[in-house]
Amino acid sequence: MQIIIRDHPSEVAELAAALVRAQILRKPECVLGLATGSTPVPLYGALARMSEDGLLDMSLVTSYNLDEYVGLAADHPQSYHTFMREHLFDRAGVRPDQAHLPDGAAGNPDAECIRYEAEIKAAGGIDLQILGIGLNGHIGFNEPSESFSKQTCAVELTQSTLQANRRFFGSDEEVPRRALTMGIGTIFGAREILLIAVGAGKADIIRRTVRGDITPQVPASVLQLHPNTRLLLDREAASAL
Ligand code: PGA
Repeated sequence: MQIIIRDHPSEVAELAAALVRAQILRKPECVLGLATGSTPVPLYGALARMSEDGLLDMSLVTSYNLDEYVGLAADHPQSYHTFMREHLFDRAGVRPDQAHLPDGAAGNPDAECIRYEAEIKAAGGIDLQILGIGLNGHIGFNEPSESFSKQTCAVELTQSTLQANRRFFGSDEEVPRRALTMGIGTIFGAREILLIAVGAGKADIIRRTVRGDITPQVPASVLQLHPNTRLLLDREAASAL
C-alpha cells in the first residue's frame, strides 16, 4: 500500500482527480470502478469541472459502481444511480449506456449479481477502482463478517451502516436494509485501487486497515495484500497512523 497524505480535503480531491485524469489520458477507453458516499463528491466535482472546461474527455470511459440499495429503482432520489447521474455522469459526459450500477430493483437479486459480475469480466475487468471506507471498514457494502466475499452479492447492512445512511432518508423505515455490492474478490481484481478517506472520524479505521491484522472483520484490511493500492488521506484521517 502506498500512503499519500495531504493537509486539506480539497487537496485530496484535486490529487484524486489528477490521478483519475492521468488514467483516462493513458487509456481513454478505460474501465473505472466508482464509489458513492460523501467522500468522492469533491473528486466528482473536480472531474466534472475538468470536463466542462475541456480538460478531460470521459466519453469513451466505461464505469461500474460498487453497489446499489436493494428495492430502490434507478430513478429513486436516494438511489446510487441518481447520485452518480447528479454528481458525475450528466456533468462529465459519461455515456448512460457505458455507466453501470447493479439494478437494485431486479426481481431476482442473486441473478442480478451474477449478471453484474459477468459484465465486469466481459469488459476486461477494472483498470482503476475508487473506494471510500465505512467507519466499520467496509468497502463497497462488504460489511465486517466471517469471510471475504468473492463476487458481487446481496448483503444485509449492519446497524452502523444503517445509522450512517439514515441522514439521506426521511425516516428509519425508509433506509434500505439490503444492498447489492461488488465482492471483495471483485474489488481485489482491479488493476489499481485508490482508497480515499478524509476527516478525524476515519482515523481509527484507517489505522486498523493499514496496521491491523488482515481480517474480514475489517474488510478494507485485505488491501494490504493488493499489489497496486494507494490510500489518499488528509492529515486528520492519517492522524492515528
Ligand atoms: P462516506 O462513506 O464517504 O460517506 O464516509 C464511505 C463508505 O461508507 O464507504
